[in-house]
Amino acid sequence: MKNPSDKRLNKDGIRIHAIEDFAGMRAAGALASEILDKVAAHVTVGATTGAINEFVHQYIIDKDAKSATVGYRGYKHATCISVNHVVCHGIPSDKRLRDGDILNIDVTVIVDGWYGDTSRMYVAGRPSRKAERLIDVTHESLMRGISQVKPGNSFGDIGAAIQTYAEGERCSVVRDFCGHGLGQVFHSAPNVLHYGRWGAGPVLEPGMFFTIEPMINLGRPETKVLADDWTAVTKDKSLSAQFEHSIGVTEEGCEIFTLSKAGNFHPTWARD
Ligand code: MF3
Ligand code: CO
Ligand code: CO
Repeated sequence: MKNPSDKRLNKDGIRIHAIEDFAGMRAAGALASEILDKVAAHVTVGATTGAINEFVHQYIIDKDAKSATVGYRGYKHATCISVNHVVCHGIPSDKRLRDGDILNIDVTVIVDGWYGDTSRMYVAGRPSRKAERLIDVTHESLMRGISQVKPGNSFGDIGAAIQTYAEGERCSVVRDFCGHGLGQVFHSAPNVLHYGRWGAGPVLEPGMFFTIEPMINLGRPETKVLADDWTAVTKDKSLSAQFEHSIGVTEEGCEIFTLSKAGNFHPTWARD
């Protein structure tokens, strides 16, 4: 980086972090991804999403970290758990997982003031072939988006890579929610869209920190938010999946802060 101590907003209002700031994001991302590694054992047929949330919340407390979501805009839980046609922001509850359910678990932790935000898909029992395919397509969508992250490319390139691939697989990209800048705050500029045009949008620069978190549906892209003011579902009740990484732009490309040390990011590891 040209000037490592230069903490500033660029012309698009996006924070350019210093080289030292990567260490903070690395620690926060490592804890968030460790939690998602450990929670896998708790995702079983008959488990409640509330119990899964409790495990995560206790884990965060035991590590002397903080949950970014408890108390965030009135949200009360350490996770969002989004089952089947729930797109995102599913609220943990006493509902039990059933054989074949697919679910996203999203966790954001604060470690020494830095935010680590990541989510993955899990399966309870044996998922259907179409559910497995949706999970594969969604994971690949995220990875194709990440492969665009390097200085000089644009945020539009990220969205275009995701959209081109997902729609080519006859799936749809949710428009109503997006990724976001983060760092010492939870949500900041820019909005990271998961669709778009090649070359459009702000240009990527070293020191930008943001999430990519595509939500991909088997049916149509439209969503609606339930009366609880959080739970977003597909309007057509089709299955939805999501994966999320927190990443930082480097001189060479990017660093993924929330990689799974156990190699468990994609649930194929659980297949027999
Ligand atoms: N972690 C989510 C994201 O990826 C945000 C959850 S906010 C909550 O941005 F309040 F619903 F938890
Ligand atoms: Co996020
Ligand atoms: Co998240």
